[in-house]
Amino acid sequence: MGIEIRPVSGDERRDIILRLGGYAFGPTPPLPFDNEFWQGFVRISEGAPNLVAFEDGQAVAMVHSTPMTQHVRGKIVPMGGVWAVATMPVARRNGLARRLMADLLAGDRARGAAMTCLWAFKESFYARLGYVTFPQWRKATFAPEPLIPLLKKDLGGTVEMLSIADGFDLYWDYLQEVQTRTHGMALVKPVLLRERNRRWLAVARVDGRVVGTILYQLADGGDETLIFKAERFFYTTVQGRYLLLEWLARHVDQTREVSLVLPPGELPETWWLDLQPKTTSIESALGRVLDVTRLAGIEVGPGQFTARISDPFCPWNEGCYRFASDGGCLDITPSVGAECTLSIEALTGLVYGIRDPEVFALEGWGDPSPDLQATMRSMFPACLPFLHEEF
Ligand SMILES: CC(C)(COP(=O)(O)OP(=O)(O)OC[C@H]1O[C@@H](n2cnc3c(N)ncnc32)[C@H](O)[C@@H]1OP(=O)(O)O)[C@@H](O)C(=O)NCCC(=O)NCCS
Repeated sequence: MGIEIRPVSGDERRDIILRLGGYAFGPTPPLPFDNEFWQGFVRISEGAPNLVAFEDGQAVAMVHSTPMTQHVRGKIVPMGGVWAVATMPVARRNGLARRLMADLLAGDRARGAAMTCLWAFKESFYARLGYVTFPQWRKATFAPEPLIPLLKKDLGGTVEMLSIADGFDLYWDYLQEVQTRTHGMALVKPVLLRERNRRWLAVARVDGRVVGTILYQLADGGDETLIFKAERFFYTTVQGRYLLLEWLARHVDQTREVSLVLPPGELPETWWLDLQPKTTSIESALGRVLDVTRLAGIEVGPGQFTARISDPFCPWNEGCYRFASDGGCLDITPSVGAECTLSIEALTGLVYGIRDPEVFALEGWGDPSPDLQATMRSMFPACLPFLHEEF
């Protein structure tokens, strides 16, 4: 049977996403699966790179990616966010998703991406393609009552409440500022947020400057109660954090529970006495280096080493490189021979700061000596990336 692989657009793309995506991710029948969310998503993602496999003229598998930016150790680089990876059952386990992913990643690289990230149904499927699991985000849930004393404190500054439609430009500006200081943070303009206008934005300001924002909704908590659901809680300063917590305290009579989605590494249990948040994890994202040479210029600690990179899935990365700190920025040049072997997973783990080099041998990701491992730790200190975008 003949397989044709090509990108799709317009009504054909819409129909394929609603049928294949509907079957893979939605409750069906009926097909095509259609609702307001998907329609909006299909509309705003028109033009996003995609590939569809057709078997005897029928679409049976698809992959998509959205060009984004990502903060990687002090540098904002282009990143391809992969989504809607699906194969119809009749065509599964024939290597189609793998083939489409290989072609999609080659295209993303040709379009300039340095990294690629995604949210996985199952890590092991994407681990085969060189992706490495990120630390999980946290959801903190607590009753707002312990925050009441904040209402009597003079925190300085103000908090303004806006609809997200009215506050959109301000929020977008603030997100871009947050991205400049948040390792791992991916960003794409959230136009659907403005269009749907179903979120509140609380904006903390000091001397006119934005120092924090909460993107939230008051959601039905059952039994005629409301839950203050904040899907993003960002602050630039401690003052910003407490202004936002005071905003939560203002909802004490209205909401029995607050839930905040927080980057990994946030410690809400230390924010206020008796808060006692219950924290749960949110599923993991994965990422990988897409083009080794485009890592040049990221911030690194002192050191240098040479490594033979193996990356059978993205073969353009294969070869020997010298990685060296040049005044605190990574310099990458080809090398003749190498002190160790590193898989692309190992390099990804170092760059995002999410794997210690001691695990490489155990994972089958490389063979750096203890001395080289120490150099790698110096150049790529451990970090907690926060992807921010969900796709
Ligand atoms: C997951 C899915 C896209 C796989 O598509 P596919 O065309 O059958 O995948 P492939 O045949 O290309 O498989 C590629 C590799 O992944 C492995 N694989 C396939 N399905 C897998 C699964 N469910 N879990 C773990 N590994 C899997 C294959 O064995 C193969 O490994 P190999 O290259 O080492 O032989 C498909 O089953 C699907 O659409 N599932 C429902 C939707 C979904 O969950 N999509 C992913 C969203 S993130």
